[in-house]
Amino acid sequence: MSGIARLELDGKVYELDTFVGTEGERSIDISKLRDTTGYITLDDGYGNTGSCRSAITYIDGDAGILRYRGIPIEELAGRSSFVETAWLVIFGKLPTVEDRDRFASLLGESAMIDEVMRKHFNAFPQTAPPMAILSAMINTLSAHDAGATQIDDDESMERAAAVLISKVRTIAAASYKASIGEPLVYPRYDLKYAENFLHMMFSVPYRNYEPSPEVAAALNLFLMLHADHEQNCSTSTVRMVGSSKANLFASCAAGVCALWGPLHGGANVAAVQMLQDIQESGIPVSEFVNKVKNRDAGVKLMGFGHRVYKNFDPRSRILKKSVDDVLNQLEKSDPLLDIARELEDAALNDDYFVERKLYPNVDFYSGILLRAIGIPMEMFTVMFAIGRMPGWIANWKEINENPKSRIYRPRQIYVGPTDVEWEPREER
Ligand code: ACO
Repeated sequence: MSGIARLELDGKVYELDTFVGTEGERSIDISKLRDTTGYITLDDGYGNTGSCRSAITYIDGDAGILRYRGIPIEELAGRSSFVETAWLVIFGKLPTVEDRDRFASLLGESAMIDEVMRKHFNAFPQTAPPMAILSAMINTLSAHDAGATQIDDDESMERAAAVLISKVRTIAAASYKASIGEPLVYPRYDLKYAENFLHMMFSVPYRNYEPSPEVAAALNLFLMLHADHEQNCSTSTVRMVGSSKANLFASCAAGVCALWGPLHGGANVAAVQMLQDIQESGIPVSEFVNKVKNRDAGVKLMGFGHRVYKNFDPRSRILKKSVDDVLNQLEKSDPLLDIARELEDAALNDDYFVERKLYPNVDFYSGILLRAIGIPMEMFTVMFAIGRMPGWIANWKEINENPKSRIYRPRQIYVGPTDVEWEPREER
């Protein structure tokens, strides 16, 4: 049920429409505010701004709920593969067997990157951060597969989605191979999505890597849990760039750049680094928690806290359990998992974290799962990018298909100097 909001400004009352989403989320429609009142809203960091109406992902941060296209993440985990989830996120419903097979074939056919494109990898220094290579190479796809950027119906959309989801995996593995001085490994048509990625990451010319079903399942789960997360920093970036009618590949390359930062996708690296530092320094967990609370040199509990979740991030719960299962199945142990568990317990029972509603987010355990799979730390954020690709594509699609979509162009309140007179150089 929507109503009217009344706003009193300078002695005058204005009526603003309200809009309620399908899950009861309430909003005040301010799209005519400046025209009618001369005011704009001020919302640093966009914490109270709904930038769009979207039918892709629903999060209730207070209740710890995450749903893709209405389906709870807990139901998808363990039942759907990453590929099936990707199709669901992009096209709005679970694929039929026919949809699933067609999309899987498209993914298989699109796995190779252009031979000319391979040469780009040799031009990067061996020390290049894989996220730099990933964003550059996704952008480069616009040049090598220009046909895929022409999207005007469901068929071309599906093809472009398959090209991007498939090739991002090949590019990611190739960037890893370049960084360790090994030759790029060609994809195999007979392998499924996760297995094919692991093959390209870990096979060498003289030995094929055969992942165990447990490792492939863990990777599928990791990717699936990252498939979308509504209007986070990178997805908003993709929408922002897409709103200018930039092509899908260019928009998603921008998403990779936004994801790179340690407060976003880079947090999975920062969380494992933090656990390693605790392990190497041997400081008790309680002492580290005190450092965080005292804000010593800006020390944060990485993998904790979230702009939207003020409760458990449901993905962190699934990951915590999965890390245990995978380590047991592989008969491995990881001392960082013990430290992480101890840290979580300490934080969840400490007033500092309780009062601020700081809970483990997806990054707290995801790095430990990636370590169990054998993924090196430099690749963690790249793995997040591979997983998030369906969400970026779905959000770009939503913008592209909306005939009322306008270019994203926020306003600002200028607080700089006013009317400064230009001084000749010799008088400055
Ligand atoms: N450790 C210690 N204190 C924290 C943490 C943390 N991880 N996160 C938030 N706080 C504190 C803040 O200092 C602030 O305290 P104050 O009110 O006394 O000033 C309070 O909790 C509220 O935090 P904000 O910074 O306002 O929260 P915001 O929504 O802006 O930031 C963010 C969210 C960036 C995720 C933050 O919690 C953080 O930096 N976490 C660590 C990095 C991380 O794990 N990022 C991954 C996020 S999930 C993702 O992108 C996939």
